[in-house]
Amino acid sequence: MENGGGKDANQSCLLAGCGYVGVRLARRRLERGPVLALVRRQASCEALTSEGIAALAMDLDEGSQQDALDVPPGLHAVVYLAPPAARGTEDLRLARFLERLGGARPAVLVYLSTTGVYGDTDGAPVDEQSPVAPREDRSRRRVDAERRVAQWCEARRIRWVVLRVPAIYGPHRLPLDRLRLGEPVLRPEDSGPGNRIQVDDLVAACLAALDRPLSGVFNLTDGHPESMAAFTTRVARLAGLPAPPQIDWAEAQRVLSPGLLGFLRESRRVTSCRSQALGLSPMDPEAGIRASLREMGL
Ligand SMILES: NC(=O)c1ccc[n+]([C@@H]2O[C@H](COP(=O)([O-])OP(=O)(O)OC[C@H]3O[C@@H](n4cnc5c(N)ncnc54)[C@H](OP(=O)(O)O)[C@@H]3O)[C@@H](O)[C@H]2O)c1
Repeated sequence: MENGGGKDANQSCLLAGCGYVGVRLARRRLERGPVLALVRRQASCEALTSEGIAALAMDLDEGSQQDALDVPPGLHAVVYLAPPAARGTEDLRLARFLERLGGARPAVLVYLSTTGVYGDTDGAPVDEQSPVAPREDRSRRRVDAERRVAQWCEARRIRWVVLRVPAIYGPHRLPLDRLRLGEPVLRPEDSGPGNRIQVDDLVAACLAALDRPLSGVFNLTDGHPESMAAFTTRVARLAGLPAPPQIDWAEAQRVLSPGLLGFLRESRRVTSCRSQALGLSPMDPEAGIRASLREMGL
């Protein structure tokens, strides 16, 4: 691995899936030791390499299970950030990745999951002790992935951490285009609380999960659940854009995408009885949006 000069070579970290969250995590983790990013497309690989992040392109959905990954000897940590494929109730992409790790024995594996595994609680709170009750296949794939991570790691005595993550926002991940186009949002009376985390708080949680002797499941949230309408209106105010028009559920079913409607149909209040151990003090939406706009020069 290339990036280790002056760093602790024993802290090498493989980021499987290195997109929006992964790149920001890679930049921070490089301060500690070598990082290798695994991505699907050659173009992503080149973009990472051009900013000094060692990368390799491999589509985990293709090739045979026997295609071993060229992981550095003595690999210390793995963070798995690739989403599952779009169909089915299992995460076969992750299954192939674990298979391709071959005999690698990292000290820790961190898996980024979603709070969708809790399904719909009609706005009631969920914490790490709440049962998983996925309603949609995309969440069933996450439950399957979490189970695979735990089983694979426990069979090899590898420490594992699952971070259950709600909606991620941050620089270049704000609904600015939708606001500029005057797109509507579902009125708060018709939607439940939405849960979010600012990307840099998520990165801080990943780093803590790598470094602290913790294991098991952790919910992440900024602790300020608010509806999509409230959050989008807040972004509009802070960005100096007009507030979005609000529509009722009947109209939303006509004009919003099926994917967005799927998210809006589920409602829960994400809490955590464990995340203090990660040492986070997450930004509230006001601070998180301001920091994001500032980084974008807005
Ligand atoms: N967006 C949210 O609000 C949200 C909420 C909760 C959890 N999450 C989850 O958090 C994780 C990180 O999110 P993100 O926003 O950083 O995702 P992202 O920007 O879409 O990045 C995903 C990465 O995975 C790689 N990848 C995808 N399919 C692959 C395959 N078949 N083989 C190898 N690599 C593959 C992509 O490679 P290429 O760049 O080459 O395509 C990319 O580097 C994802 O699992 C996401 O689903 C997201």
